[in-house]
Amino acid sequence: MALLEAKDAGMEFSAGPAWARRAIHALRNVDLSVEPGEVIGVVGESGSGKTTLGNLFIGRNRPTSGTLEYRGTPLAQVPRSERAGKFAAVLQHPKWSLNPMLKVVESVIEPIKILGKAGTKENQRKTVGKMLEQVGLPGNYQERYPHELSGGQRQRISIARALITNPEFVLFDEAVSALDVSVQAQVLNMIKKLQKTAGFSAIFISHDLAATRYVASRISVFYVGRLVEDAPAENFYGTSSHPYSRGLQFASGLLDDEAHELSLGMLGSNPNGCSLAERCPLVHEECNKSCPKLRRNGQVRVACHLFETASGAGSQ
Ligand SMILES: Nc1ncnc2c1ncn2[C@@H]1O[C@H](COP(=O)(O)OP(=O)(O)OP(=O)(O)O)[C@@H](O)[C@H]1O
Ligand SMILES: [Mg+2]
Repeated sequence: MALLEAKDAGMEFSAGPAWARRAIHALRNVDLSVEPGEVIGVVGESGSGKTTLGNLFIGRNRPTSGTLEYRGTPLAQVPRSERAGKFAAVLQHPKWSLNPMLKVVESVIEPIKILGKAGTKENQRKTVGKMLEQVGLPGNYQERYPHELSGGQRQRISIARALITNPEFVLFDEAVSALDVSVQAQVLNMIKKLQKTAGFSAIFISHDLAATRYVASRISVFYVGRLVEDAPAENFYGTSSHPYSRGLQFASGLLDDEAHELSLGMLGSNPNGCSLAERCPLVHEECNKSCPKLRRNGQVRVACHLFETASGAGSQ
C-alpha cells in the first residue's frame, strides 16, 4: 500500500482584495502516490504548484477537493498523535527552519522535545551528537548559533533537525537551491546516503533536473497545477514522453535539439484545450479543443494527445 496518495486532489486559493476576490487553482485533479522508501522528484517551472503539493503531502495544507491518504486513510482523519514526528520538511532557506536565537543542539532536539521524548540534557547531547555525525558535522557544533555557520552547514543542521524523529516522509523543497554548486553536490550526496540508511520516503522538489535525477527514482512533472508526466527516472531523461518535459530538459541543457524548445506563449488564452498548447512545438488541432487526460502506458503516465495516439495508452 502507498505511504501517501493524492487522489484527484485539488487546491484552490482565493487571492486579491475582498471586492475583487479571484480563485487561484494551484493544483487540479492530482493523482500521485509515494510508496514506502520511494523518492519522487517534482519538477516544473515557478508557480506550477510544487510547494503546494509538498505542503499537501506533509499535511500542512488540506486539499480543497479530492483527498490525500496516509496508508489508506484520509490524512485529515489520522489523529495528530499518530502523525507526530512522521512528517518533516527541509526548505530552501535554513533561516526559515532554524531559530537564530537557539543553539544547534536546541534546534535539532526540538522536534523530539515536542514529542516529549527528549530525556535528560545529557541524553539530548548524545542524540544530537550522533545526528550531527550523520550529517557530517563535528559534535562540538552543538554549541554554535546559526549565524556562526556557513550556508551549507546550516542546511546540514536543518536536515539533522528534520531527520531527528526518524520520519517516514520528508519534503525537500528546493533544499539545495540556495547553496553553491560544490556544496550542493556534497549535500545531495548526504541526502542520498541518509535516505538509503533511514529508508524514509521523500518528495524532492527542485528546478535543477540534474540534481533531481541524482536523488529521485521517479519524476513527476507539473505544469500550471496539473501533473503532466509521471515516469521512472530512466524513462524520463532524454526520452520523456511529454513535450513539456523535453522542453524543460532542453532549457536545462540536458537535450540539445532545438526542436524541443518551448515558446513563450500566453498562459490561459486557451481555456478549453491543453494548457501547454500556446507554447508546444508539437501543437496540433486537437490540443486547442480538449485538455488531455493523464494516460498510463506501463510505468509511465503522460497527459498529451500525441502520447495517446503514439502509445495507445489507456486511462490512468
Ligand atoms: N497561500 C496562497 N494564497 C494564494 N495563492 C497561493 C498561495 N500559495 C500559493 N499560491 C499560488 O498557487 C500557485 C502555485 O504556487 P506554488 O508556491 O505551489 O508554486 P511553486 O511551483 O512551488 O513555485 P516556485 O518554483 O516559485 O516555488 C501560484 O500561482 C501561487 O501564486
Ligand atoms: Mg515552491
